Amino acid sequence: MNEDHLKASGIAKQVKQFARETGKIGLNFREYAELIENKIKELGGKPAFPVNLSENEIAAHYTPHLNEEKTITSEMVLKVDIGVDVNGWLVDYAITIDFTGENKELVDASLEALEKAVSLVKPGVEVGFIGGIIQETIESHGFKPIENLSGHAVEQNNLHAGIEFPNVKRENSHVLASGDVFAIEPFTSTGRGYITESDYADIYSLISDKPIRNPVSRKLLEVIKKDYEFTPFCSRWLGIEEYNIGLRELVRNGNLEAHNVLVEEKGSRISQFETTLIVTDSGSEVLV
Ligand code: CO
Repeated sequence: MNEDHLKASGIAKQVKQFARETGKIGLNFREYAELIENKIKELGGKPAFPVNLSENEIAAHYTPHLNEEKTITSEMVLKVDIGVDVNGWLVDYAITIDFTGENKELVDASLEALEKAVSLVKPGVEVGFIGGIIQETIESHGFKPIENLSGHAVEQNNLHAGIEFPNVKRENSHVLASGDVFAIEPFTSTGRGYITESDYADIYSLISDKPIRNPVSRKLLEVIKKDYEFTPFCSRWLGIEEYNIGLRELVRNGNLEAHNVLVEEKGSRISQFETTLIVTDSGSEVLV
């Protein structure tokens, strides 16, 4: 592991503990996200994407906005998805905190699936085989894995580098090799095991710098190119409102990709644990 990745790993471990300790009923989502993001910066890294705080049937991609009103409540199974970036070297991970006190098995199923998956990682093993073990583990608890959400290969400055690490059995999938870096992230659901995109998005990635006529949008694009060339970002980071006209125009013009909030069936609950690891000659080195 190079020095930057080692540093990102160390920060990720500390921030994981910090996120557990600071998440409390009554805390505003924005305050919570900023506590975590500021901790990453204080330790010498930067957030690899806006902290995702996704409760209950929301699987992923919700980040608080400037005027956020949501607070943590005792009705929430909350996924906290965090990324640490040191010079483009990334560590992506997630924990679930059960504020209901009633969903221990749901939470444990994802953790157990992740631990089993990690224990099977070594060169020569197919990711689709390990996906099958994730699926079996989750189903043995009476829940469903989310079949259309996957872990992913991670490269420098590229969080989702193409190859998927499935949460269900797949044939003819990628064969792990020494040096591969993957994020593995089992999602366990009380619902149907399938997510859809909601209409709402407030996390964006820069995908093209093609020209845009409107001077306000053009100025916004310049800021994004400078600060977030490789890093997904949100309106809160830019200090603007979530439905900012410039942001919407940049999406329409094809400059930005919007990452819509992903949701399961209404009333369902989802847990998730995620880690990032490097495949070694004999197994793997877990970064967080
Ligand atoms: Co991930």
